[in-house]
Amino acid sequence: MNFHVMTLFPDMIMNGLGTSITGRAMEKGLIHVEAVNIRDYSQDKHLHVDDAPYGGGAGMVMQPGPIYRAWQALAEQIGKKPRVICMTPQGSVFTQKIAKQLSEEEDLVFLCGHYEGIDERVLEMIVTDYLSIGDYVLTGGELPAMVMIDCISRLVPGVLNNEVSAEFESFSDNLLEYPQYTRPEDFLGRKVPEVLLSGHHANIEAWRRQQSLIRTAERRPDLLEGACLTEKERAFVEQMRRKLPASAEEEKGFHA
Ligand code: ADE
Repeated sequence: MNFHVMTLFPDMIMNGLGTSITGRAMEKGLIHVEAVNIRDYSQDKHLHVDDAPYGGGAGMVMQPGPIYRAWQALAEQIGKKPRVICMTPQGSVFTQKIAKQLSEEEDLVFLCGHYEGIDERVLEMIVTDYLSIGDYVLTGGELPAMVMIDCISRLVPGVLNNEVSAEFESFSDNLLEYPQYTRPEDFLGRKVPEVLLSGHHANIEAWRRQQSLIRTAERRPDLLEGACLTEKERAFVEQMRRKLPASAEEEKGFHA
Protein backbone atom coordinates (compact mmCIF):
# COMPACT_ATOMS: atom_id res chain seq x y z
CA MET A 1 0.00 0.00 0.00
CA ASN A 2 1.32 3.43 -0.94
CA PHE A 3 0.92 6.54 1.19
CA HIS A 4 1.81 9.90 -0.39
CA VAL A 5 1.87 12.85 1.99
CA MET A 6 1.77 16.39 0.60
CA THR A 7 3.41 18.53 3.27
CA LEU A 8 5.70 21.44 4.04
CA PHE A 9 7.47 19.29 6.66
CA PRO A 10 8.55 16.07 4.95
CA ASP A 11 11.11 15.19 7.66
CA MET A 12 8.39 15.15 10.27
CA ILE A 13 6.50 12.49 8.29
CA MET A 14 9.51 10.34 7.39
CA ASN A 15 11.04 10.50 10.89
CA GLY A 16 7.73 9.78 12.59
CA LEU A 17 6.65 6.88 10.40
CA GLY A 18 10.17 5.54 9.83
CA THR A 19 10.23 4.36 13.46
CA SER A 20 8.91 1.19 15.11
CA ILE A 21 6.26 -0.99 13.42
CA THR A 22 5.54 1.34 10.48
CA GLY A 23 9.29 1.71 9.92
CA ARG A 24 9.68 -2.06 9.80
CA ALA A 25 6.72 -2.36 7.43
CA MET A 26 8.44 0.17 5.16
CA GLU A 27 11.69 -1.81 5.25
CA LYS A 28 9.80 -5.00 4.39
CA GLY A 29 8.10 -3.25 1.48
CA LEU A 30 4.61 -3.88 2.91
CA ILE A 31 3.89 -0.17 2.89
CA HIS A 32 5.54 2.65 1.04
CA VAL A 33 5.54 6.18 2.48
CA GLU A 34 6.51 9.15 0.35
CA ALA A 35 6.57 12.72 1.63
CA VAL A 36 6.06 15.23 -1.19
CA ASN A 37 7.43 18.65 -0.30
CA ILE A 38 4.86 21.19 -1.50
CA ARG A 39 7.61 23.82 -1.51
CA ASP A 40 9.36 21.93 -4.33
CA TYR A 41 6.42 23.02 -6.54
CA SER A 42 6.65 26.72 -5.74
CA GLN A 43 7.42 28.89 -8.78
CA ASP A 44 8.28 31.85 -6.59
CA LYS A 45 11.94 32.87 -6.54
CA HIS A 46 11.89 32.82 -2.72
CA LEU A 47 9.98 29.50 -2.76
CA HIS A 48 6.95 31.05 -1.05
CA VAL A 49 3.90 28.84 -0.79
CA ASP A 50 1.56 31.14 1.15
CA ASP A 51 0.14 34.66 1.03
CA ALA A 52 -2.22 36.99 2.92
CA PRO A 53 -5.95 36.19 2.77
CA TYR A 54 -8.16 38.16 0.37
CA GLY A 55 -10.67 40.12 2.44
CA GLY A 56 -8.18 40.59 5.25
CA GLY A 57 -7.74 38.73 8.50
CA ALA A 58 -4.99 37.16 10.50
CA GLY A 59 -2.40 34.70 9.24
CA MET A 60 -1.43 33.36 5.88
CA VAL A 61 -3.22 31.07 3.43
CA MET A 62 -1.51 28.31 1.43
CA GLN A 63 -1.62 29.16 -2.27
CA PRO A 64 -3.32 26.85 -4.77
CA GLY A 65 -0.53 26.63 -7.37
CA PRO A 66 2.15 24.60 -5.55
CA ILE A 67 -0.44 22.17 -4.15
CA TYR A 68 -2.08 21.71 -7.55
CA ARG A 69 1.24 21.04 -9.28
CA ALA A 70 2.29 18.58 -6.56
CA TRP A 71 -1.03 16.76 -7.06
CA GLN A 72 -0.58 16.69 -10.85
CA ALA A 73 2.84 15.08 -10.45
CA LEU A 74 1.38 12.51 -8.06
CA ALA A 75 -1.57 11.72 -10.33
CA GLU A 76 0.86 11.12 -13.18
CA GLN A 77 3.09 8.91 -11.01
CA ILE A 78 0.13 6.86 -9.74
CA GLY A 79 -1.46 6.66 -13.18
CA LYS A 80 -4.89 7.93 -12.16
CA LYS A 81 -6.59 10.64 -10.08
CA PRO A 82 -5.93 9.39 -6.55
CA ARG A 83 -8.08 9.57 -3.44
CA VAL A 84 -6.93 12.76 -1.71
CA ILE A 85 -7.64 13.17 1.98
CA CYS A 86 -7.43 16.67 3.39
CA MET A 87 -6.48 16.85 7.08
CA THR A 88 -8.78 19.37 8.72
CA PRO A 89 -10.71 19.78 11.97
CA GLN A 90 -13.70 20.52 9.67
CA GLY A 91 -13.72 16.93 8.37
CA SER A 92 -15.60 13.82 9.49
CA VAL A 93 -13.99 12.25 12.52
CA PHE A 94 -11.63 9.38 11.60
CA THR A 95 -12.73 6.01 13.01
CA GLN A 96 -11.61 2.39 12.87
CA LYS A 97 -14.37 1.77 10.31
CA ILE A 98 -13.01 4.51 8.01
CA ALA A 99 -9.49 3.10 8.50
CA LYS A 100 -10.74 -0.30 7.32
CA GLN A 101 -12.33 1.21 4.21
CA LEU A 102 -9.21 3.22 3.39
CA SER A 103 -6.98 0.16 3.83
CA GLU A 104 -8.61 -1.34 0.71
CA GLU A 105 -7.04 1.38 -1.48
CA GLU A 106 -3.73 0.87 -3.28
CA ASP A 107 -2.72 4.56 -3.09
CA LEU A 108 -3.78 7.29 -0.68
CA VAL A 109 -2.74 10.94 -0.80
CA PHE A 110 -2.80 13.01 2.40
CA LEU A 111 -2.86 16.77 2.13
CA CYS A 112 -1.48 18.55 5.21
CA GLY A 113 -2.41 22.18 5.69
CA HIS A 114 -0.63 24.79 7.75
CA TYR A 115 -1.12 28.45 8.64
CA GLU A 116 -4.70 29.69 8.48
CA GLY A 117 -5.74 27.21 5.82
CA ILE A 118 -5.59 26.35 2.13
CA ASP A 119 -7.05 28.30 -0.81
CA GLU A 120 -10.53 26.84 -1.30
CA ARG A 121 -10.24 26.51 -5.08
CA VAL A 122 -7.52 23.88 -5.04
CA LEU A 123 -9.42 21.93 -2.39
CA GLU A 124 -12.48 21.88 -4.68
CA MET A 125 -10.31 20.64 -7.53
CA ILE A 126 -8.37 17.79 -5.90
CA VAL A 127 -9.79 16.72 -2.50
CA THR A 128 -12.03 13.65 -2.31
CA ASP A 129 -12.35 13.33 1.51
CA TYR A 130 -12.06 15.69 4.48
CA LEU A 131 -11.03 13.99 7.72
CA SER A 132 -10.31 15.14 11.27
CA ILE A 133 -8.73 13.21 14.16
CA GLY A 134 -10.95 14.90 16.74
CA ASP A 135 -12.60 18.07 17.88
CA TYR A 136 -9.50 20.07 18.69
CA VAL A 137 -7.20 22.21 16.58
CA LEU A 138 -3.55 21.36 15.84
CA THR A 139 -0.90 23.52 14.21
CA GLY A 140 -0.91 21.42 11.04
CA GLY A 141 -2.08 18.25 9.33
CA GLU A 142 1.15 16.22 9.71
CA LEU A 143 0.32 14.61 13.06
CA PRO A 144 -3.22 13.70 11.92
CA ALA A 145 -1.80 12.18 8.69
CA MET A 146 0.66 10.13 10.76
CA VAL A 147 -2.12 8.98 13.08
CA MET A 148 -4.21 7.82 10.12
CA ILE A 149 -1.31 6.17 8.28
CA ASP A 150 -0.28 4.31 11.43
CA CYS A 151 -3.83 3.09 11.99
CA ILE A 152 -4.37 2.05 8.34
CA SER A 153 -0.93 0.39 8.08
CA ARG A 154 -1.60 -2.05 10.88
CA LEU A 155 -4.58 -3.36 8.89
CA VAL A 156 -2.32 -4.19 5.93
CA PRO A 157 -1.61 -7.95 5.92
CA GLY A 158 1.82 -8.76 7.35
CA VAL A 159 2.37 -5.45 9.16
CA LEU A 160 1.41 -6.86 12.55
CA ASN A 161 3.17 -10.05 13.55
CA ASN A 162 0.01 -11.77 14.73
CA GLU A 163 -2.70 -11.50 12.10
CA VAL A 164 -5.54 -12.20 14.54
CA SER A 165 -4.78 -9.28 16.80
CA ALA A 166 -6.18 -6.65 14.43
CA GLU A 167 -9.46 -8.62 14.33
CA PHE A 168 -10.07 -9.01 18.07
CA GLU A 169 -9.26 -5.65 19.45
CA SER A 170 -10.89 -2.48 20.64
CA PHE A 171 -13.56 -1.12 18.26
CA SER A 172 -13.49 -4.13 15.93
CA ASP A 173 -17.04 -4.98 17.10
CA ASN A 174 -17.85 -1.66 18.78
CA LEU A 175 -16.54 -3.20 22.00
CA LEU A 176 -13.37 -2.35 23.89
CA GLU A 177 -10.73 -5.02 24.32
CA TYR A 178 -10.63 -7.16 27.48
CA PRO A 179 -7.77 -6.66 30.00
CA GLN A 180 -4.49 -8.48 29.34
CA TYR A 181 -2.02 -10.01 31.81
CA THR A 182 1.47 -11.50 31.59
CA ARG A 183 4.15 -12.76 34.02
CA PRO A 184 4.49 -12.60 36.96
CA GLU A 185 1.37 -14.40 38.19
CA ASP A 186 1.46 -12.31 41.37
CA PHE A 187 2.51 -8.67 41.11
CA LEU A 188 2.83 -6.95 44.50
CA GLY A 189 -0.04 -9.07 45.75
CA ARG A 190 -2.26 -8.57 42.69
CA LYS A 191 -3.07 -11.92 41.10
CA VAL A 192 -3.81 -12.77 37.49
CA PRO A 193 -7.49 -13.84 37.22
CA GLU A 194 -7.70 -17.58 37.92
CA VAL A 195 -9.60 -18.41 34.73
CA LEU A 196 -6.67 -17.29 32.56
CA LEU A 197 -4.43 -19.89 34.20
CA SER A 198 -6.98 -22.68 33.81
CA GLY A 199 -6.19 -23.62 30.21
CA HIS A 200 -9.98 -23.95 29.67
CA HIS A 201 -10.35 -22.14 26.35
CA ALA A 202 -14.14 -21.85 26.32
CA ASN A 203 -14.17 -20.37 29.81
CA ILE A 204 -11.37 -17.96 28.93
CA GLU A 205 -13.25 -16.87 25.81
CA ALA A 206 -16.47 -16.31 27.83
CA TRP A 207 -14.61 -14.38 30.54
CA ARG A 208 -12.93 -12.14 27.98
CA ARG A 209 -16.20 -11.42 26.24
CA GLN A 210 -17.79 -10.49 29.56
CA GLN A 211 -14.85 -8.25 30.44
CA SER A 212 -15.22 -6.49 27.08
CA LEU A 213 -18.88 -5.84 27.83
CA ILE A 214 -18.16 -4.54 31.33
CA ARG A 215 -15.31 -2.33 30.15
CA THR A 216 -17.34 -0.85 27.30
CA ALA A 217 -20.36 -0.20 29.56
CA GLU A 218 -18.09 1.54 32.08
CA ARG A 219 -15.80 3.50 29.79
CA ARG A 220 -17.56 3.98 26.46
CA PRO A 221 -21.27 3.26 26.87
CA ASP A 222 -21.91 5.27 23.68
CA LEU A 223 -20.34 2.42 21.67
CA LEU A 224 -22.82 -0.20 22.87
CA GLU A 225 -25.62 1.04 20.62
CA GLY A 226 -23.73 -0.15 17.54
CA ALA A 227 -22.38 -3.39 19.09
CA CYS A 228 -23.59 -6.80 17.98
CA LEU A 229 -24.83 -8.41 21.23
CA THR A 230 -26.93 -11.48 22.00
CA GLU A 231 -30.17 -10.89 23.91
CA LYS A 232 -28.53 -12.24 27.04
CA GLU A 233 -25.55 -9.93 26.64
CA ARG A 234 -27.81 -6.93 26.06
CA ALA A 235 -29.71 -7.74 29.26
CA PHE A 236 -26.40 -8.08 31.14
CA VAL A 237 -25.23 -4.71 29.88
CA GLU A 238 -28.55 -3.06 30.75
CA GLN A 239 -28.38 -4.48 34.24
CA MET A 240 -24.80 -3.22 34.58
CA ARG A 241 -25.69 0.24 33.42
CA ARG A 242 -28.48 0.45 35.96
CA LYS A 243 -26.04 -0.62 38.68
CA LEU A 244 -23.30 1.80 37.67
CA PRO A 245 -23.47 4.79 40.00
CA ALA A 246 -24.72 7.93 38.23
CA SER A 247 -21.64 9.62 39.60
CA ALA A 248 -19.20 7.01 38.24
CA GLU A 249 -17.40 9.71 36.31
CA GLU A 250 -17.16 11.91 39.38
CA GLU A 251 -15.55 9.04 41.28
CA LYS A 252 -12.94 8.70 38.55
CA GLY A 253 -12.17 12.38 38.97
CA PHE A 254 -13.28 13.53 35.52
CA HIS A 255 -15.16 16.45 36.99
CA ALA A 256 -13.73 19.56 38.60
N1 ADE B 1 -5.47 20.10 11.38
C1 ADE B 1 -5.57 20.84 12.50
N2 ADE B 1 -6.30 20.24 13.44
C2 ADE B 1 -6.69 19.04 12.89
C3 ADE B 1 -7.48 17.97 13.37
N3 ADE B 1 -8.04 17.96 14.58
N4 ADE B 1 -7.67 16.92 12.54
C4 ADE B 1 -7.14 16.91 11.31
N5 ADE B 1 -6.40 17.90 10.81
C5 ADE B 1 -6.17 18.96 11.59
